[in-house]
Amino acid sequence: MKVAVLGASGGIGQPLSLLCKASPLIDELSLYDVVNTPGVATDLSHISTPAIVKGYLPAGDGMKDAFTGVDVFIIPAGIPRKPGMTRDDLFKINAGIVRDLVKGVAEYAPKAYVLVISNPVNSTVPIAAEVLKGAGVFDPKKLFGVTTLDIVRAETFVASLSGEKDPSKATIPVIGGHSGETIVPLFSQASPKVDIPADKLDALVNRVQFGGDEVVKAKDGAGSATLSMAYAGFRFAEKIIKAAKGEKGIVEPTFIYLPGVPGGEAIQKETGLEWFSVPVELGTSGAEKAINVVSGANDYEKKLLQACYTGLKGNIEKGVEFIKNPP
Ligand code: NAI
Repeated sequence: MKVAVLGASGGIGQPLSLLCKASPLIDELSLYDVVNTPGVATDLSHISTPAIVKGYLPAGDGMKDAFTGVDVFIIPAGIPRKPGMTRDDLFKINAGIVRDLVKGVAEYAPKAYVLVISNPVNSTVPIAAEVLKGAGVFDPKKLFGVTTLDIVRAETFVASLSGEKDPSKATIPVIGGHSGETIVPLFSQASPKVDIPADKLDALVNRVQFGGDEVVKAKDGAGSATLSMAYAGFRFAEKIIKAAKGEKGIVEPTFIYLPGVPGGEAIQKETGLEWFSVPVELGTSGAEKAINVVSGANDYEKKLLQACYTGLKGNIEKGVEFIKNPP
């Protein structure tokens, strides 16, 4: 199992690479960035775990060498938010970065899983798909927008209300997209059931939707979530890898191309969107089944979903347009 982290020297990239190096599931780790990967790779290579770590820069055949033979790409490359910025403000720079990296994926490792962390996820994942389609290698079961941090936050914030000591015991479907109102936590479908007092629900939903802003504000100009994102990104990558190795019954919400995943068409009909995050059953071929939790939403959640659909539609179109009619 060869994993590549693209943007490996960054705030997310470094702790994410550390978690990958510590994982017994990974044999080789390829670290790619426009700066500092020789240092990060050398540092990590001294850790006494089996994974062989190599660092690459773009010069010469850097991209080819870094990407060839990779099974799973995790992409946190790009600029993060500063106070006052929305994820959409990042589009101008990150859209081009993701496009160019995914061109490399299409050329050097077209069968690999691609996990996109770079924001705005609602647009960068459709961009990645258009690039892969253009190269004739798009496999919708293997392209994922990483929305795991929204789930991790929902688990944590619910536990702080319920008093549950281990937040990870909760399973909470968080669906839709990955920014503000497009993030829709379905607390009515939490397992085990959670009882949220009616007067606390609005604030809880808002905290899940805008939790990223807490971090951006607290970091005061130094960026957005990096450590919690590294945890979340690794948690998702680990599930993909375990499923690829044959483990059964793994389900995690992620942003996928609905028409390309079994079960997705019914959800597309209901949402009117091609891209949406829903719980997905993972298997040896990637996303094997999209689970329709949309139809079970209660009236309160249906209202949240309406706002989500409007925002998400525009974000998706913006991404697709970026490739179809380049600026
Ligand atoms: P950062 O600025 O600390 O790191 C980004 C890294 O990407 C830098 O090392 C930079 O050199 C590298 N990079 C830039 N252009 C590149 C290229 N063409 N090829 C390879 N590497 C390149 O940023 P940070 O905090 O690590 O955030 C990265 C991205 O992740 C941002 O877009 C941020 O918005 C996003 N993010 C996504 C989350 C999610 O839930 N999906 C949560 C938090 C952040």
